[in-house]
Amino acid sequence: MARKAQIGVYGLGTMGSALALNMAEQGIEVAVSNREVDWIGAFLSEAGSLAGHLHPHETLEGFVDDLAQPRVILFMIPSGAPMDAMIEAVAPLLAPGDTIIDGGNADFHATRRRSADLARRDIHFVGMGVSGGEAGARHGPSMMVGGTDHSWQQLKPILTAIAARYEGDPCVAHLGPDGAGHFVKTVHNGIEYADMQVIAEIYGLMRYGLVRDPHSIGEVFARWNNGPLRSYLVEITGKALGYDDPATGHPAVDVIKDAAGQKGTGRWTVIEAVRLGQSASMIDAAVAARSWSSEKNTRVQAEAILGGDRSVLDLGEDVLENAFLAARILSYAQGFRILDAASAAYDWTLDFARIAEIWRAGCIIRSALLDDISEAFGADMTGGQLILAPAMAAQLERTIPALRRVLAAAIAGGHAVPAMAAAIGWYDTMRQGRGTADIIQAQRDFFGHHGYERLGEDGVHHGPWWE
Ligand code: 6PG
Repeated sequence: MARKAQIGVYGLGTMGSALALNMAEQGIEVAVSNREVDWIGAFLSEAGSLAGHLHPHETLEGFVDDLAQPRVILFMIPSGAPMDAMIEAVAPLLAPGDTIIDGGNADFHATRRRSADLARRDIHFVGMGVSGGEAGARHGPSMMVGGTDHSWQQLKPILTAIAARYEGDPCVAHLGPDGAGHFVKTVHNGIEYADMQVIAEIYGLMRYGLVRDPHSIGEVFARWNNGPLRSYLVEITGKALGYDDPATGHPAVDVIKDAAGQKGTGRWTVIEAVRLGQSASMIDAAVAARSWSSEKNTRVQAEAILGGDRSVLDLGEDVLENAFLAARILSYAQGFRILDAASAAYDWTLDFARIAEIWRAGCIIRSALLDDISEAFGADMTGGQLILAPAMAAQLERTIPALRRVLAAAIAGGHAVPAMAAAIGWYDTMRQGRGTADIIQAQRDFFGHHGYERLGEDGVHHGPWWE
């Protein structure tokens, strides 16, 4: 009898095919299938010599039948309704103990619902965040795994074999039950949005404030990529700024319409932060900036009415570099704060040091800073408050003055810096033991008799404004 496949990959789009090839390269026997069956042949031709480890199937029944039991099936299909339809189609073919994985970017509430529904049928459902784009999936992604321990034992050897490695450590971990993996991936993407927005703001300050050309700005990013800002996003930004458009000969960035797309994970992060009683203001600013960017016509009209002047700035590269680093630390800090809140709300006991570790390679936000963050969380830091970690506080003390200088110049000069401005607003709020919410409480009690707490006293108090 032919050897059964160790895993099935259903969905041979960009990410699914890259993951299947990565597995085949590790010698793993992979059953593959796709809704549009004509994709399967094309995929096998692309696989070349790796096709020997790939078992193609045109029917779902044949695909499921080819899997060693208990079965593991990775679905790489669009999230939402297609995933629910797929579950309905495949579940009757499965047996107790089998595991279905959703490797797409899914809303973790849907993952929790699907896990609970399938658990009633003794089928395990894993929400797994996969980061790193096509190249990551093909040569080593970072993977954030939810679901049961049973599924993790099934998946661990395969995922460990295909994961990115940071100094030998595979960038994959079982982070918690049900939706934990998808939630951590969502916050990863929120941080990704904030970091990309900060990069865009710093680029804008160099481009329109320092009046430098894209190529020379690209060189600055390339230099920064050798220092504390080293990261995949800084690296690709530097490279992107070095390209010219073949059709016009202009810098490529100059022919791209300044309207950013978004598929929803940044927005989910903001929504969940608010639901959890938090506010990830930098991620919110990044999502907002993408939304505002898509109002291109309004912006063009407003420039004529409101004036689009931006003054020339006098800022050195080192000041911008430190401002960027401060903002980056604060965006990670906001992201981990949401993870901390979710961990408590959903009883996940997320391991923040491990999350930082598996983000050090393979994923889109991989950066030198994550090494410092994993150490900070590992050094007996209780809670998810990164700004309280001594190593992070020291880096902030060194870099915050630059963020203040850059923001003061940018705001006075009319440059848009919403994410960096959100960063300093949050930082200054959090570093003051006595804030100004006392007057908010006074107002609430004055107009609505909502009551307030007195310092050092129990109970709810009112007045004296009633006399
Ligand atoms: C990753 C990316 C990936 C994708 C997101 C963001 O970790 O590999 O985050 O999941 O780029 O979908 O997409 P949008 O910018 O379109 O929301």
